[in-house]
Amino acid sequence: MKTAITELFGIEHPIIQGGMHFVGFAELAAAVSNAGGLGIITGLTQKTPELLAKEIARCRDMTDKPFGVNLTFLPTFAAPPYPEYIAAIVEGGIKAVETAGRSPEAYMPALKAAGIKVIHKCTSVRHSLKAERIGCDAVSVDGFECGGHPGEDDIPNMILLPRAAEELKIPFVASGGMADGRSLVAALSLGAAGMNMGTRFIATKEAPVHQNVKNALVAATELDTRLIMRALRNTERVLKNSNVDRLLEIEREKGAKLTIDDIHDQVAGVYPKVMLDGQMDAGAWSCGMVAGLIHDIPSCKELVDRIMTEAETIIRSRLMGFLDGTGATRKVA
Ligand SMILES: Cc1cc2nc3c(=O)[nH]c(=O)nc-3n(C[C@H](O)[C@H](O)[C@H](O)COP(=O)(O)O)c2cc1C
Repeated sequence: MKTAITELFGIEHPIIQGGMHFVGFAELAAAVSNAGGLGIITGLTQKTPELLAKEIARCRDMTDKPFGVNLTFLPTFAAPPYPEYIAAIVEGGIKAVETAGRSPEAYMPALKAAGIKVIHKCTSVRHSLKAERIGCDAVSVDGFECGGHPGEDDIPNMILLPRAAEELKIPFVASGGMADGRSLVAALSLGAAGMNMGTRFIATKEAPVHQNVKNALVAATELDTRLIMRALRNTERVLKNSNVDRLLEIEREKGAKLTIDDIHDQVAGVYPKVMLDGQMDAGAWSCGMVAGLIHDIPSCKELVDRIMTEAETIIRSRLMGFLDGTGATRKVA
């Protein structure tokens, strides 16, 4: 399949693996890229720019296909040394960067000077338009369903994607709630040129996270995520667990007076405990509603191949069948 996204990034299939804290290590990025998608190393999971440079080199040893790096611009006072992270990305020969969080405007000249294609993750049409204005090559449109930070507008992809298509000139991928061939065809129908998956890629053989995390995703349903930190306007969709229940209790008690210090124990330093040690109740960790569509733990190649085969079957058989009159009774599960 060829779309504006496969052409932009030089990949075989229009499938991107979104940056994920303590998940997006070289093993996963390389596996996704080897499967024909675009794998992404999560920049800030590497504690220093030097460590990121090593992670890029490690990934390079595992694949000769294009892969990218995620740079998340956090709403924090003690900002990581972004220029040094960008230097590591440029020197590592990376040609695709997924930015997220605050606007990447300040860093666009450095990224563009190195010939890097920038895809900015946005949860609204207005932020997508801003990304287009500042020279981003593409946008990842992250609907309300998504794992991680869905923003504060609460617009699901069924509306957000066609709205993005109405306004944007640059290509975009659908992000949030994407899991299979049905998601891909739906995303393409709504105007996207591909899809970005986070949660689905965690439940793969190569994702270098504890088996407990993968099992939890298979066991979870679409009813098992919760939104936290709404009062802080830093909303995050996470998988429900006992510490998330406690966090929500604190949020109810504090109301609009909530501060980050009130929930420090439930959100700080959680990722290594969950992802590496498999302590599933350690605290709040991002997870999408798409958990309800995750029923197995395939390899990245099995997953990507299955998505592409299913998408082709839906287009050629189910959708064409409706047009030529043979599809009325056919069902694609
Ligand atoms: C465990 C986890 C960690 C994530 N960490 C980051 C991150 O560090 N930076 C970022 O830009 N997005 C992060 N995301 C968001 C994903 O890149 C992606 O946008 C999102 O998962 C898409 O929604 P989905 O989970 O429904 O596929 C994370 C998502 C998950 C599930």
